[in-house]
Amino acid sequence: MSTLEKEVNRRRTFAIISHPDAGKTTLTEKLLLFGGAIQMAGEVKARGDRRRARSDWMKVEQERGISVASSVMSFEYDGRMFNLLDTPGHEDFSEDTYRVLTAVDSAIMVLDGAKGIEGQTRKLFEVCRLRDMPVTTFINKLDRESLDPFELLDLIEQELALDVTPVTWPIGMGRDFKGCYDLLNDKLILIEKSKGDKPDEGVVCEGVDDPKLADYIPEHQLEKLREDIEMVRELCPAFDQQAYLDGTMTPVYFGSAINNFGVRELLEGIGERAPKPGVYNTVEKGGIDPLDPKVSGFVFKIQANMDPKHRDRIAFFRMVSGKFKRGMKLKHSRTGKIINLHNPVLFLAQDRELAEEAWPGDIIGIPNHGNLRIGDGLTDGDTLSFTGIPSFAPEHIQTVRPEDPMKAKHLAKALQQLAEEGAASVFKPTIGSEWYVGVVGMLQFEVMADRIRTEYDVPCRFEPTSLYTAVWVECDDKHKLKKFIDDNRANMAEDHNGAPVFLARNSWRLDKAKEDYPEVRFLNTREQT
Ligand code: G4P
Repeated sequence: MSTLEKEVNRRRTFAIISHPDAGKTTLTEKLLLFGGAIQMAGEVKARGDRRRARSDWMKVEQERGISVASSVMSFEYDGRMFNLLDTPGHEDFSEDTYRVLTAVDSAIMVLDGAKGIEGQTRKLFEVCRLRDMPVTTFINKLDRESLDPFELLDLIEQELALDVTPVTWPIGMGRDFKGCYDLLNDKLILIEKSKGDKPDEGVVCEGVDDPKLADYIPEHQLEKLREDIEMVRELCPAFDQQAYLDGTMTPVYFGSAINNFGVRELLEGIGERAPKPGVYNTVEKGGIDPLDPKVSGFVFKIQANMDPKHRDRIAFFRMVSGKFKRGMKLKHSRTGKIINLHNPVLFLAQDRELAEEAWPGDIIGIPNHGNLRIGDGLTDGDTLSFTGIPSFAPEHIQTVRPEDPMKAKHLAKALQQLAEEGAASVFKPTIGSEWYVGVVGMLQFEVMADRIRTEYDVPCRFEPTSLYTAVWVECDDKHKLKKFIDDNRANMAEDHNGAPVFLARNSWRLDKAKEDYPEVRFLNTREQT
């Protein structure tokens, strides 16, 4: 087996999806402990915070108690390399989160055992489903009163239309929570032995009828466990690796992240069963296999102005194929230019390190001055346009004006950069001097105004507009598209890439346009190329 194949096989690149408060941060911290990371995830965050402490943007973030910035944590456990991509939890930043999900091979869905499936979880799950991504479920907070485990399984099955199969099964809950029975490995894991950094190794049993279970669990709970397991085996399908990889079945773990309970089983499950880095599609060459020796990958996220004094940006680049070495020169597919990667960054949980080498599934941070955009491909030779990195139709649109009219050009530059970073959609109408800014969550306007003021020194005002929606327009016939654009000049705009956008004042106008121009496609989502 080649080194490339070995490195691909041992990599797991994943994200955690959840509703705020379900326990994602706590679970992340515990996962990092297994990876031998010296610092806790919270400290990793804190260092980033200090770096940006002077930015007022961070104040918005701190006041709201939300995490705007997402990052990458890489750690090794049991011979495997895990890349955990953090996703901003607040729903106002979901567009960023959605894009992070294009750069992972699987996801962990964390549910609060008392709440089941909540709004944000459902939305994020739908994004995973678009890519048929394998999802592993972790039901958290079993140390509190929770919903009945069967009810929880039923909720997942009904609400997300997924087959469910428990891997571990809880024994009691709340104050009576004793631990879990691991159905795949026939092991009893006890919570009282799991306190601290070293969780219980587990007691190996010969199935749930093993008499030695009585040494650990009170009789009434043991009886209930045996009944439950019998029911599970009757009601739930057995774990099926292919169904999991196809995204139609989710293995379910129960636990309590704060007690570091059930986390190791989850991590080992990801290690053993979650997919290794997979194939990504391109316009030019179809699927690119990770074992293709030529380096390729794409930018899925830009984080700008980490230091407000310098216009630095980090492009987060997902390796798709080949072996990357520091100092490599890669071709930028959008412009054809060669980019020298002499100071790329790896995100090891302990610290940020210069990347000497990286393999498919790894994430590299590439410092740059704005030449890299979301969706851009970098390759060792070929021109490749990766597909499937979506731009979402804005749900809220406002106009923006500089407080000082002399600063219109500066504002334009700031908006262009923020749009390239993926912070918002920016539309410049064909007629008129104002700009439209579209976002997925309302809070983004506030964050943007703050950033434009502090990072670009342009105080500006966002104002509501009566615009109903903005949709991208496409047509296979260039002449027909041009005719549509000419006929609708007063309602046309361009996005930051120069793509034509139709601004609809109300739903009737949009419907009428669709009716009058049947060949034109009106798109809510635009894949970046
Ligand atoms: P999030 O990132 O998904 O938003 O959730 P986070 O980990 O911040 O957890 C949200 C709250 O739930 C925190 O409490 C955390 O301590 C608690 N929590 C996480 N896992 C468990 C668990 O297994 N059992 C119980 N009982 N609680 C859990 P908080 O009071 O909001 O914050 P803190 O003061 O504890 O930091």
